[in-house]
Amino acid sequence: MLVRETHLSTSQLIMPYFIQEGHGVKDEIPSMPGQFRFSIDQFLFELEEIEELGLGHILLFGIPGEKDAQATQAYHSNGIVQRTVREVKKRFSKLTVITDVCLCEYMSHGHCGVVKGEQVANDETLALLQKTALSHAESGADLVAPSDMMDGRIGAIRTYLDQHGYSELPILSYAAKYASSFYGPFREAAGSAPEFGDRKSYQMDSANVQEALREIELDLKEGADLIMVKPALAYLDVIRAAKDKFSIPLLAYNVSGEYAMVKAGASLGYFDECRAVTEILTSIVRAGARAVLTYHAKDVARWAKEPLGSKSIHT
Ligand code: PBG
Repeated sequence: MLVRETHLSTSQLIMPYFIQEGHGVKDEIPSMPGQFRFSIDQFLFELEEIEELGLGHILLFGIPGEKDAQATQAYHSNGIVQRTVREVKKRFSKLTVITDVCLCEYMSHGHCGVVKGEQVANDETLALLQKTALSHAESGADLVAPSDMMDGRIGAIRTYLDQHGYSELPILSYAAKYASSFYGPFREAAGSAPEFGDRKSYQMDSANVQEALREIELDLKEGADLIMVKPALAYLDVIRAAKDKFSIPLLAYNVSGEYAMVKAGASLGYFDECRAVTEILTSIVRAGARAVLTYHAKDVARWAKEPLGSKSIHT
């Protein structure tokens, strides 16, 4: 321990959650064993466990009851995320609540923006993202995390939040977000797979590192307070390059497909889950991430509480 170069601690982990309408709902997501879609009432029970395990940070995704072509539920004051944040902050005031700001879960066609013909209209989308971020802020979110990848979104959201009295609210930008096959299980969980086309016009090509650094630079100029690289595992070099170039807090998102892969392999007995997860998360931190968004967070916190010699993340 004394000379170890990299330390993984539960305080660096952020647990993502999917919240949906209804009552008494806790449905396991088939491609993400151990992950659930919760209704708000069930989610509050889940948070009691999270608090007991010592996890302090969550990221929220909403699954609305209705979707339309303007993503109305994304910025409605009584939308699923807005209500969830209010309930959570009432009861768990110390928990850091981050909200994902994107429209794809709320759009009937599953794209991240307003669609004109078969194109995503950047500037019209910005106006809706501004409203979405503000509605999250008004509900009590501690950080907003735009994941849509429209041009100019960080600046637009920053200006809008400032104008409405939220100049102190930090923005965590999904600055380097690649068009990735590893989002597959998420799209099943959130019902957000695009009906036509793909996200390649607004997410990055996996072959590019310099482009990621340019995207990050732009987001920082526009006012991002924290930046993220996503996915993590196939992009460790991007995390390292970003860490070396920028001094701002850097996060990485260990996404749904990365989680699903580990779960599948471990359930077949191909490797030990705890050791594999520890190795993967350590590599992401070693590459330069200060914090990691990961569906494994709860398991890691549980393992860390087990006595040394069994499944401890410290072994
Ligand atoms: C919304 C969004 C996605 C993820 C986070 N925010 C999906 C996507 O871009 O299709 C993926 C997270 C994961 O796979 O765990 N745009």
